[in-house]
Amino acid sequence: TCSAADQQTIVIGLAADSGCGKSTFMRRLTSVFGGAAEPPKGGNPDSNTLISDTTTVICLDDYHSLDRTGRKEKGVTALDPRANDFDLMYEQVKAIKSGVSVDKPIYNHVTGLLDPPELIKPPKILVIEGLHPMYDSRVRDLLDFSIYLDISNEVKFAWKIQRDMAERGHSLESIKASIEARKPDFDAYIDPQKQYADAVIEVLPTKLIPDDNEGKVLRVRLIMKEGVEFFNPVYLFDQGSTISWIPCGRKLTCSYPGIKFSYGPETYYGHEVSVLEMDGQFDRLDELIYVESHLSNLSTKFYGEVTQQMLKHSDFPGSNNGTGFFQTIVGLKIRDLYEQITASRVKAPVEAAKA
Ligand code: ADP
Ligand code: G6P
Repeated sequence: TCSAADQQTIVIGLAADSGCGKSTFMRRLTSVFGGAAEPPKGGNPDSNTLISDTTTVICLDDYHSLDRTGRKEKGVTALDPRANDFDLMYEQVKAIKSGVSVDKPIYNHVTGLLDPPELIKPPKILVIEGLHPMYDSRVRDLLDFSIYLDISNEVKFAWKIQRDMAERGHSLESIKASIEARKPDFDAYIDPQKQYADAVIEVLPTKLIPDDNEGKVLRVRLIMKEGVEFFNPVYLFDQGSTISWIPCGRKLTCSYPGIKFSYGPETYYGHEVSVLEMDGQFDRLDELIYVESHLSNLSTKFYGEVTQQMLKHSDFPGSNNGTGFFQTIVGLKIRDLYEQITASRVKAPVEAAKA
């Protein structure tokens, strides 16, 4: 039997400030699903959408209700809810989720204007990525799974310097100023969304080097909510225990400052969570298999799948540390969630018929 419910689109929300690694994460995710996502063929070259066989990624900037000039005139930033059309976002995500195509607007990042809309057909998996996927409670309730990329100020600053100073020729002062200008709205409208996320990837400066402020070596925490249907948190050695592990030695090459893993239960915004932490970086990516073999509930399809994914994309930012490692793991958990939801829908009508 093939009811409409069997084909319902699964919706994933990915929230983060811009320049915090959302596109990199999306590339890792779609790779786990077996195909790179590409811009729609024959459409607007400035479209923000990415499409693969299974997955469509839409960028929530497309729901800006105020264009660049409008924002300037009204004195609001893109992070301000008043610059975004949540009614339309809700209606369109809901339509796609129930199998109906929509004409989604396009925010043109080059011109700062709203372009004519593009047709979005319901995919198997819809990812909505951007500043506000969990801001509006109606949109939030449509999400089957949500992720928040939480990049600490120190690290955000280091990444911005690397990109905007080294690659775009901005000055240190102007980078500082632009981060400061965004901060009040970021704190008011973006950051609070992390309390709703099923998984948070927190990126902090290392604790392995005293007073490090380079932002090269990172301490990354994967915060996984307990009790989420179809999502079984990953664990290290023994589920629910508190563990500290330095894997450097015979099986793993570690140069200064080494690698340290931690794992254990915690409370996060009043929710029970499990936290897996990795501080430091890998010298040799193929040795990741040693760490992978000590983790459980990874939702891999074969031994070494995490390591294989990491090796495949070793050129992506964060491949030698916890950012790439945990993004890959979350990708596998989403694939598992998708498969479980799909399986439960096939079973449900059979159960109903028996009753
Ligand atoms: P977004 O889509 O959120 O704007 P990107 O994935 O395009 O972010 O990343 C923006 C920039 O941030 C990258 O070009 C890189 O300089 C830096 N960056 C992102 N993720 C990482 C990472 N895990 N480690 C180091 N730098 C990163
Ligand atoms: C997009 C991004 C924002 C960014 C904005 C630029 O909407 O998601 O993070 O701030 O573009 O806005 P501006 O008003 O400077 O053009």
